[in-house]
Amino acid sequence: MRTAVILGTRPEIIKMSPILREFKQRNIDYFVVHTGQHYSYELDRAFFEDLKLEEPDINLNVGSGSHAVQTGKILEGVEDHIKQRTDLVLVQGDTNTVLGGSLAAAKLNIPVGHVEAGLRSFDRSMPEEINRLVADHVSSYLFAPTEVSRANLLKEGIDESSIYVAGNTVVDAVYQNVKIAETSRDPLDYLGLKRQQYFLATSHRAENTDNPDRLRDIIEAFRKILTIYNLPIIYPIHPRAAKMIKQFRVNVDGIMIIPPVGYFDFLLLEKNAKLVLTDSGGVQEETCVLGVPCVTLRDNTERPETIDVKSNLLAGTRPDIIVDCVDRMLGRERNWNNPYGDGRAGEKIVNIIYPD
Ligand code: UD1
Ligand code: UDP
Repeated sequence: MRTAVILGTRPEIIKMSPILREFKQRNIDYFVVHTGQHYSYELDRAFFEDLKLEEPDINLNVGSGSHAVQTGKILEGVEDHIKQRTDLVLVQGDTNTVLGGSLAAAKLNIPVGHVEAGLRSFDRSMPEEINRLVADHVSSYLFAPTEVSRANLLKEGIDESSIYVAGNTVVDAVYQNVKIAETSRDPLDYLGLKRQQYFLATSHRAENTDNPDRLRDIIEAFRKILTIYNLPIIYPIHPRAAKMIKQFRVNVDGIMIIPPVGYFDFLLLEKNAKLVLTDSGGVQEETCVLGVPCVTLRDNTERPETIDVKSNLLAGTRPDIIVDCVDRMLGRERNWNNPYGDGRAGEKIVNIIYPD
């Protein structure tokens, strides 16, 4: 049996890495199609280097574009490469790469495995929600990270025999890399930061960056936090956010904006932060796993487990509410349980796909 692994963005490279590692260890017949959705060094190659992954077998180089253009190119490109000798297509997450990859396979009647199935924000204005819904409904193997995601799938009428609760490979990625990160160069040194004496921020989601009011509110909140706590806020910035800050001429004075950092550096920045402010999906999970308080700059989340275990608060984008949530999160004990598994999700998923 030959598996095609389709990936194309930063979070997919990170969360697929434990599965790729497992495939390699077991000498499984697979090949990797990189769609090229992400192509800048800091969003792409940096992760192949940090995670010691082999070069993808194919790069479709689709690049950026409207949703239709990007997804259309992915559909066409993936189809070309899975037409022959592909028995399973594996996708991870909720990007346009996942939409194009899973749809191309389903149309060729090739079974699809969806890693991180069943997440729902219940907000169909988010491109990611549409991508998740489609990918889940064309998949034969649905690897739900938790019982919450399994229940979402069951409510949508998906056959329970195709759902597997395996945990989230993000835990594997954190456990596999945080120790290596700790023996690598310390980003706190070169950034002049002290443990627990800074805030870490990321914001890249379209609903926030592409809306000038929301973007301004988020930056204003960062500036307020800076003043209240008199501690640096470091913001490794996604190119989408950088572009929109420039376009809307948002004043970011005082905030430590740096280019996106590699996985080791980011894990250490997360681990040692006083608190993390984010609209990222993966960062909500990683902070939960690392025991670091998180405030999410969104009105909803498809990661309700983090809210339930109390590692995360949903703040939206109003500065006063964000400031209040930071205060509340800092008052909480960091003693929650990680709901995303024991760090062996990759192994479990591969066992299901390739039973002995
Ligand atoms: C995509 C995903 C999002 C995910 C994020 C991970 C979709 C619909 N969105 O968002 O769910 O959270 O990846 O980071 O799939 N750009 C670069 N270099 C790159 C890639 C993008 O400069 O390597 C810039 C371009 O200006 C581009 C913009 O970022 O137009 C947005 O890129 P795109 O791939 O459309 O979406 P992301 O915002 O990265
Ligand atoms: N990340 C990173 N460097 C950065 C910012 C994020 O390595 O400068 C990692 C982070 O550890 C997490 C992933 O990127 O694993 C999250 O990706 P992103 O926020 O782009 O996407 P999302 O998870 O929201 O889809």
